[in-house]
Order: sequence, then C-alpha cells, then structure tokens
Amino acid sequence: MAALNRIQKIASHLDPPKPNKFKVALLGAAGGIGQPLSMLLKMSAYVSDLALYDVANTPGVAADVSHMSTGARVKGYLGAEQLPAALAGANLVVIPAGVPRKPGMTRDDLFNINAGIVKGLIEAIAAHCPTAWVAIISNPVNSTVPIAAEVLQRAGVLDPKRLFGVTTLDVVRAEAFVGELLGVDPRDVSVPVVGGHAGITILPLLSQARPPLPASVSPEQRKALMARIQDAGTEVVQAKAGTGSATLSMAYAAARFADSCLRAMSGEGPVTEYAYVRSEAVAGLPYFSSPLRLGKGGVEEVLPLGAMDELEAANFEAMKAELMGSINKGVEFVAKGP
Ligand code: NAI
Repeated sequence: MAALNRIQKIASHLDPPKPNKFKVALLGAAGGIGQPLSMLLKMSAYVSDLALYDVANTPGVAADVSHMSTGARVKGYLGAEQLPAALAGANLVVIPAGVPRKPGMTRDDLFNINAGIVKGLIEAIAAHCPTAWVAIISNPVNSTVPIAAEVLQRAGVLDPKRLFGVTTLDVVRAEAFVGELLGVDPRDVSVPVVGGHAGITILPLLSQARPPLPASVSPEQRKALMARIQDAGTEVVQAKAGTGSATLSMAYAAARFADSCLRAMSGEGPVTEYAYVRSEAVAGLPYFSSPLRLGKGGVEEVLPLGAMDELEAANFEAMKAELMGSINKGVEFVAKGP
C-alpha cells in the first residue's frame, strides 16, 4: 500500500493536473507596477501567453521576463500601432497604465492624465478583444472604471460581469495590518474591504475580520487601524518621497486578483474576490467594491456586505457623496467627448 502511494505521488508529480491556460495582456507593462507584475504573471500556472504592452521600454522588459524558465510565452509590444496585436485573443487585460501619485497629491489629482489614457486603451479593447475580462488598476479607480464602462457601452460591448476595478491592495493591506496586530500569519486573516479605492471611500469591515479582533482592541485602536488601511497608499507615497506610489505590493495584489479571475475562467469556481464593479445590488450606488462570486462568465453574484458596526455604518453613509461624485466625473468625462 505504501509503495502504491509512493508511485502515485511520483506519478502525480510527473504529470500534475493541467490548469486551463489563457492569454493575458498587460497594458503599462514597463512601469513601476507593470514590471514586477509581468514577472508574477510569467510565474502563473494559468497563463499561456503574456502580452506586455507600453508606450516605452517594453522590448527590455519582455526580453528580461522571457528568460524566466516558466511556461508562459512572452511578447513585448511597443507603441499604439502594436496595441491591436497585443490585445488580439486576450482573455484578460490588466491595466496599470498611467501616472502615479507624488507626495501631496490625491488619487483624484491624477484624473486629467489617466482618464484619457484609460479611455484610449478601453476603446482599443472594445475593438480588438471585446469579450476579454478587464481589470483596471489605473487611478482614480473610482472614476476610471465608470469611464471604461461608458466607453464599452457606447461601443455596444459592455458586460459589467467582466469589468473590474482592482481594489485587492486594500484587502491585502488590511490582512497584513490585522495579522501584525494579532501576531498571526496574514495568510490566515480575512478582512472584507468594500466601497471604493480612495480615502474615506475605502471601507474596511473590521467587525467581520477573521480571526476576530479581541475585545482588548479599543475603539480608538480600531479607528486608527481603519484610518491606516484607508491611508496606506499615502504612507507609501510619502516614504517613496516623490519617486512613485505602491508598486511591489500592488503587483502582488494584482497577480492575486488575476489568478482569481483565471481560476474562475477555468471553471475552478466558485472563486470569491473583492473588486469595484458596476452593480447597484448591495449599496444602492451604481459602482461599489463588493465581495463577488466569480465563475466562468465573470461575476456570478455580488455578495451581501454583511453586518456593519456603528462606526462602519457611519463611514458607509459618509462616503456615499464622494464616491458618487467620482462616478459622475468619470461618466461626464466620456459624455463630454474629445
Ligand atoms: P509608472 O509611471 O511607474 O508606470 C506607468 C506606466 O504606464 C509607464 O510605463 C508608462 O509608460 C505607461 N503608460 C503611460 N501611458 C500609457 C498608454 N497610453 N498606454 C500604455 N502604457 C502607458 O506608474 P505605476 O507606479 O506603475 O502606477 C500606475 C497606475 O497605477 C497609477 O495610475 C497609480 O496611481 C495606479 N495605482 C493603483 C493602485 C490600486 O490599488 N488600484 C495602487 C497603486 C497604484
């Protein structure tokens, strides 16, 4: 029996179950997020083809990443004329293209530059891979996702089940900070973070943390923890002192989100993830970051937010006007036209 087990173990090692594989296009691949994310996607068991697109420096990044001895085929694409080829046949498009924050800037300050970049890239997606899942990292996510939805809708190819604003970094940060506080491995922590991806619109639901925060954590400490999760991006922007915003933790978070998408696409569902999506189902706002059940076709269900304590419920009410303002700004940007 032991010998049989050993043979089966060796056989499964030689021939492990093969996951389905997909083409992923990364737009903004040569940037601070794009480069480490290229590396992490090259390591994913779900990626067969990795298209690295940017307006600068992709030949170097693609050559570098292509020397990693993992399965995905890597190709670099440079400049707008190569964008259609980068997108052709893509199953998932991940977008970290755009400018990051400098100290003193809010995510909204990025709007003027990044809104146009995202609009242009989404127009190309509508034309060249209209059924791909699209994950937007470029800030301000609260506005860039509505921009993307409007562009896709005008092109007649919007499916809100496949369009996501990536808020995984907020979840990752909450897990890391709560793990630190409780002295446990962050991989064993879960904390829902819902709402949007800027300042007070980021709503960590610490009352639903697992393991739960003990009663010895005072209301002031909870408030401080909530504020730290909301301001964590600014913590990094200040520490980097003008050289950029979160890139490595963001690449980790985006790779985790991409793998969740590909696992769901692969039929390994149900997969649960948080992302900023177009749905009024749980918060009564047109876009909201919520827990999602993902399946082969994208979002299968927007899951309920669960019970909130008094502080969380107050923050939920307080953020609605700001989030709605950012949504409207995105919608109006597209309505205004070029
Ligand atoms: P970066 O400046 O290092 O890289 C941006 C890249 O985008 C550059 O390589 C640039 O050449 C490229 N790019 C510019 N215009 C482009 C276009 N039209 N098509 C393709 N590529 C284009 O910036 P970084 O640090 O990588 O940040 C990227 C974006 O991600 C920023 O908007 C930042 O605010 C956002 N971000 C979002 C987070 C989130 O949690 N969703 C967290 C951290 C950053």
